[in-house]
Amino acid sequence: MTNIKDTPEHYYATQPKSEIKFGLIQTRLRGRPFEFITASSVFSVKRVDIGTRLLIESMALPESGSVLDIGCGYGAVGIAAAAFNHKLHVILTDVNRRAVLLARQNAERNKVPNVEVRQGNLYEPVAKLTFNCVLSNPPVSAGMKTVEALIRGATAVMASKATFQMVVRSKIGKKALPQIFDETFGNFQVSAIESGYRVLTGKKQ
Ligand SMILES: C[S@@+](CC[C@H](N)C(=O)[O-])C[C@H]1O[C@@H](n2cnc3c(N)ncnc32)[C@H](O)[C@@H]1O
Repeated sequence: MTNIKDTPEHYYATQPKSEIKFGLIQTRLRGRPFEFITASSVFSVKRVDIGTRLLIESMALPESGSVLDIGCGYGAVGIAAAAFNHKLHVILTDVNRRAVLLARQNAERNKVPNVEVRQGNLYEPVAKLTFNCVLSNPPVSAGMKTVEALIRGATAVMASKATFQMVVRSKIGKKALPQIFDETFGNFQVSAIESGYRVLTGKKQ
């Protein structure tokens, strides 16, 4: 279950072709223990990424309703959200099929039943649904066009008063991201900042 090496394949490939090498992360998030199976060609295989951790530690979850973790990777954000509030229905999505399989496995492994995992591009897998909260550690490596589409596309699946919470490195899109948030939601807030990362939050009116 160990011996993971970085591979040249992007973590956002739809159908990774690299030989699969599994790993296991054991960690605590918001005081609760979690275990995550990871694999080569999936984001942050050796540890929960610092940005991911900041999003999980700071995320404001609704009391009930539904939550979307878009670009879920092996599932840390969405699985943690579902574990912290069993009343939520949490949908995790990713373009990477390997990530989707891992996220499903990790939901079971952490005994979190209120989770559903879907594969597909951006909001396509949840196009007809609405959420009270959208969470994302976006694929910055895939390019700012994808990140922008992820932000601008959110309102179509957000209920009134829903929040969109996204973690990024503080130096990424210093001017551009606040502008995109303002244009999309009419508001913008830095809801957490630590270790070179910040969580940007927009609220649908
Ligand atoms: C920075 S990683 C974050 C993964 C996970 N949320 C975490 O924090 O560990 C971004 C994720 O977005 C996924 N992704 C990239 N492009 C995507 C797209 N067009 N639609 C959906 N997911 C995408 C990648 O496969 C990757 O798993």
